Amino acid sequence: MKITAKELRQKWLDFYQARGHVDIGAVSLIGDGSTGVMFNVAGMQPLMPYLLGKPHPAGKRLCNIQGCLRTVDIDSVGDPSHFTFFEMMGNWSLGDYFKKEKTAWTFELLTKEFGLDKDKLCTTVFEGNESVPRDEETANLLISLGIKKEHVFYLPKEDNWWELEGTTGTPCGPDNEWFYPIDADDPDPVFPDDYVEIGNDVYMQYRKLGEGYEPLENKNVDTGFGFDRMLLFLNGLHDAYQTDLFTDVLAELERASGKKYADGGEDRRAMRIIADHVRTTVMLIGDSTGVLPSNTGAGYILRRIMRRAIRYCKKLEIPAETMQSVAKIFIGKVYGEAYPLLIEKEAFILDEIKKETDRFEATLVSGMKEFEKCVAGIARKNEFMAKSDPSYVPETVIGGKAAFRLYDTYGFPLELTEELAGERGLTVDHAGFDEAFKEHQEKSRVIQKGEAKGGLESHSEAAVKYHTATHLLNAALKTVLSPDCNQKGSNITDERMRFDFNFDRAMTPEEIKAVEDLVNEKIEENIPVVYREMTLEEARKEGFVGVFDSKYGEVVKTYSIGTFSKEMCGGPHVERTGVLGHFRIQKEQSSSAGVRRIKAVLE
Ligand code: ALA
Repeated sequence: MKITAKELRQKWLDFYQARGHVDIGAVSLIGDGSTGVMFNVAGMQPLMPYLLGKPHPAGKRLCNIQGCLRTVDIDSVGDPSHFTFFEMMGNWSLGDYFKKEKTAWTFELLTKEFGLDKDKLCTTVFEGNESVPRDEETANLLISLGIKKEHVFYLPKEDNWWELEGTTGTPCGPDNEWFYPIDADDPDPVFPDDYVEIGNDVYMQYRKLGEGYEPLENKNVDTGFGFDRMLLFLNGLHDAYQTDLFTDVLAELERASGKKYADGGEDRRAMRIIADHVRTTVMLIGDSTGVLPSNTGAGYILRRIMRRAIRYCKKLEIPAETMQSVAKIFIGKVYGEAYPLLIEKEAFILDEIKKETDRFEATLVSGMKEFEKCVAGIARKNEFMAKSDPSYVPETVIGGKAAFRLYDTYGFPLELTEELAGERGLTVDHAGFDEAFKEHQEKSRVIQKGEAKGGLESHSEAAVKYHTATHLLNAALKTVLSPDCNQKGSNITDERMRFDFNFDRAMTPEEIKAVEDLVNEKIEENIPVVYREMTLEEARKEGFVGVFDSKYGEVVKTYSIGTFSKEMCGGPHVERTGVLGHFRIQKEQSSSAGVRRIKAVLE
């Protein structure tokens, strides 16, 4: 190795720290919900408010290495260059220095620290449009630094404008992208075919509106260089899984399977998929906001990734437990130093991997049989029809109901069924799946409504919010009054909630205020509401509260809100507490002997 992962981390941080930047460290992989983007897809995302003008406590010059997660490319994982999780090396000027300093520093870092040849560097700048001028300034600075004039290209917005897609109100701007020959020894590389992008300096001076852009008060710089890609590239490698981030993991997969990575083919693809997906799994479960596999939101993405990895373990003919030994290597040898929380949470992460693999393995074999039956059914029908009707067009679609059954009964994420279908040249009726899903939801809604008997009357958005609020209130009462307080009943409408609990006297005004404050504090913390299924025994062991009248070994539905609230409950709930608004207790009164009643609203 010319440069190790550890050395590259240090080099990036040292370089910018020596130039007045504060290393702010990495934050959670999970987006804060403010933009609707579920995961951080770029290092700038957690810094959004500061790029828009709010003063950052660490000052105006920042740097870090931030974990990012992009799931759009998940189907390409398995080739030599795609990942779901990766890290971005970043540095920022929040209304401090601008193009002159930034171009000079990137140039210095690349040519002096990383030893790249300035005559081979190519770079692109924004060609301008009706609202933003051509970036001559950056182009001239680059040429004055020593980049060949013919290596500076002007490109349109599709190439040289950076913004967070699908958002509004977010910072954005023209960018300056840096490229180097894929093969560093290529004597005569031609741009762009023989080049690869290595990083990106964005001059963030605009705010994206619903339509168009408005200038920001601050002229910011937002730099992002892909860590994994840089490591690959600086070591002269062409397979991103051959850096020292993966050496030990691939050795473990080779040991477990008795197969060789170097032999290529489907086995190599499987090894890459398992390596990538386990890394992402470790990072998500080990994240500060801790995602767990579930059927909604980020938890569902995690479940998809984990179940895909489990299936590829089967393809490689290794036990799914290998996922734990791979996770152990990522935690202990590769990422623990940069992400100490992973070490702290190691036992928990391994345990959650085990639980999910156990859960999926229990249904995987029978699910695969079911899938094969579907495929065989289609083939039989095609054969039969073709015999009787020569103009018959063969069926190539797996029905929505069948896909839903695989999902609901065997825990096959839709994307997994689609992938399996794809391998047989089939597709899945997506719309039909959605319909079956809705129908099922409607049925459970009716059942729940019947069972709720004056509890959760409807699943309107407001009612769902109130429902989550009852969990927060329940936990707050236990904290403020007594751990023995338990919910005795509740009634929710779109306008208010009523909540009965056991307690033998009236609450004091101070206690009411303390409960209110605590609930509001948890709302402000915008904690994810995490859904998990587990056995009744597991739920009891993990401290979930609720009615323990299910049978032994039965699977129960649970919702936790951080460590604050853990309840067995059928849902539904909001995804994060932040959407609840402000919680206010209107009245506290007696309901019956030993039972108090609270009426409260969300405003
Ligand atoms: N935000 C820029 C990127 O993601 C730096 O490439």
